[in-house]
Amino acid sequence: MNPLALSLFLSLVALPFEVSSALRLGITGKRVPRPHTHHRRASIFGTTTLADSYDVSYSTNITLNGAPFSVQIDTGSSDLYVIGNVPRSQNTGKTAEVTYAVGGVQGPIMTADLDFAGYNISKQAYIQVTADKDHSVGTGLIGLGPSYGSQVRQALNDSSGDPVLDRVFTQNTSTPNYITILLGRAEDPLDDFPGDLTVGEVLPGYENITSQPKLDVSLVSLSSAFNQQNQHWQALLDVHGVIGPDGKAVDVETSVQSTSNKKQLTVVFDTGYSLPQVPSNVAEAFYGNVPGAKLMNYEQLDGPIWQLPCAIEVNVTFQFGGVSYPINPLDTTIDLNATDSDGNHVCFGAFQPQDAALSPNYDIIFGMAFLRNVYLYINFGDFVDGSPSSRAAPYIQLLSTSANASRLHSDFVAIRGSQTWDPTSSSLGRWVRSHLALVIGLSVSAGLILIGAVLLCVVQLRKRRMAPTPAGFMSFSTSYKRLNDPAPSEAYDLHMAGRPGAPLPVGQEYANPWDPRF
Ligand SMILES: *[C@@H]1O[C@H](CO)[C@@H](O)[C@H](O)[C@H]1NC(C)=O
Ligand SMILES: *[C@@H]1O[C@H](CO)[C@@H](O)[C@H](O)[C@H]1NC(C)=O
Ligand SMILES: *[C@@H]1O[C@H](CO)[C@@H](O)[C@H](O)[C@H]1NC(C)=O
Ligand SMILES: *[C@@H]1O[C@H](CO)[C@@H](O)[C@H](O)[C@H]1NC(C)=O
Ligand SMILES: *[C@@H]1O[C@H](CO)[C@@H](O)[C@H](O)[C@H]1NC(C)=O
Ligand SMILES: *[C@@H]1O[C@H](CO)[C@@H](O)[C@H](O)[C@H]1NC(C)=O
Ligand SMILES: *[C@@H]1O[C@H](CO)[C@@H](O)[C@H](O)[C@H]1NC(C)=O
Ligand SMILES: *[C@@H]1O[C@H](CO)[C@@H](O)[C@H](O)[C@H]1NC(C)=O
Repeated sequence: MNPLALSLFLSLVALPFEVSSALRLGITGKRVPRPHTHHRRASIFGTTTLADSYDVSYSTNITLNGAPFSVQIDTGSSDLYVIGNVPRSQNTGKTAEVTYAVGGVQGPIMTADLDFAGYNISKQAYIQVTADKDHSVGTGLIGLGPSYGSQVRQALNDSSGDPVLDRVFTQNTSTPNYITILLGRAEDPLDDFPGDLTVGEVLPGYENITSQPKLDVSLVSLSSAFNQQNQHWQALLDVHGVIGPDGKAVDVETSVQSTSNKKQLTVVFDTGYSLPQVPSNVAEAFYGNVPGAKLMNYEQLDGPIWQLPCAIEVNVTFQFGGVSYPINPLDTTIDLNATDSDGNHVCFGAFQPQDAALSPNYDIIFGMAFLRNVYLYINFGDFVDGSPSSRAAPYIQLLSTSANASRLHSDFVAIRGSQTWDPTSSSLGRWVRSHLALVIGLSVSAGLILIGAVLLCVVQLRKRRMAPTPAGFMSFSTSYKRLNDPAPSEAYDLHMAGRPGAPLPVGQEYANPWDPRF
């Protein structure tokens, strides 16, 4: 199979007023284009086809006063911005700034008539942003998150500043208050369609979404304005709801104080993130035992990430509402056409360890690599500006699109190849770690026996001459101590093709004192 080229650079991505350490990774990539041979679904009212930019960004076309813009879809933020001028637009005299975890935008708040997914909205408020090297004219971003987070709404301080979906839902109260999103997968020739976003409609063939368990949107404490802005589309994973490649549940604990069962992680569904962000012990359970896996640091990939062979199939599953949502192994590890310093083609664990992203409001951010495995339904309920708060609670439904395990497996082998490994047989290092008490016990016993032996020798030697240094004991002590000591970290080159003019990125192996490979 031909490796795909990818040029990587960070682009902005949204998480307004989120704690600044909450990293949101947006990669925009250019793989060598593969023709998207078919668009499976006929266009229906309320549906808009998505463009899949090499699995790292999904965008849709809108017009403002007739001018076309290609805007990234983002369930993690709530404002619309476009780069460049819109003919005949009106200036409100206010400005807004949206701070994303990576980058940000600011500019005057304008209004113009919007055409989005077949809906016409008059005088939609948006931020007009000036083009620069990261923002090209004709592009933008549409925030599909709860309106609490809207900076435009705040600046205008009335419903004229409502985000797009609130406008759609309030202008015609017969339009059902929900959106659905289906993301395609560019790498997989058998699933080669870009994606769809619908408003108030379910895609034909996916009607079963409405009989899936309804997951309550877990609410952040709305007592403070700051917290309101951190309300995302988020829900609770089941207890034992993170299943690693060995088929066993990963032991997890939430950092969200208000969650009553600490074994339930809070997950944000965010189409603006390429790589899902998970607690580091979850990423380690997924990838740490894969032969050749290394925890690396790449600036381009925003911190620690597991690097591993591309042909190893890593099967993981998440559970919501008692239903299993398996992840396609093509999404569990991601192919960025990268080679290490030895010239080996390497892939990355898409579920990125990101303890730095931990927020008081959630544990996990499910970006695109998760979302490609489900059909996502978000019912806004009374999360619409101006709706009576008694209307209904918002909820989320997920329909697995990765349920055919044998198809996923043969697909993976066809695309990536098959390097066998046994996820249930643990490496010595893992064993040592999970049996640390035993190891220490044995070491101490061995040490005592050795001391005994040495003393015996000493006593015996004493009979003839002066005592020697107990060299055996010293060397044993040193090797025992190495269980804790990190080795000096090694540097690896990661050669990303197609990054014209840019220096080759250098990855740093993550110095993890508990890593068995040291
Ligand atoms: C992938 O990277 C290799 C070098 O590592 C390069 O030769 C190749 O052209 C790249 N693939 C594509 C499709 O650009
Ligand atoms: C958006 O518009 C451009 C130009 O008209 C077109 O080439 C592209 O296919 C459209 N994308 C989608 C997702 O409809
Ligand atoms: C929206 O406006 C366009 C022209 O601007 C028109 O062709 C289309 O029919 C309108 N759609 C609806 C649903 O009113
Ligand atoms: C926003 O509007 C409300 C009334 O709807 C008013 O009480 C409040 O003072 C306004 N806030 C600002 C900052 O103008
Ligand atoms: C309002 O929405 C309903 C349901 O989507 C649709 O049938 C109706 O035509 C819409 N009315 C207007 C005026 O757009
Ligand atoms: C829809 O769900 C029902 C019950 O959950 C199931 O019996 C049926 O086979 C499903 N249909 C499809 C097309 O998956
Ligand atoms: C992954 O799952 C597939 C389908 O169940 C299975 O055939 C394959 O052996 C699994 N691979 C590993 C490494 O567990
Ligand atoms: C799973 O996919 C295979 C093709 O790879 C197909 O033959 C089989 O019918 C599918 N199974 C189900 C339950 O859809």
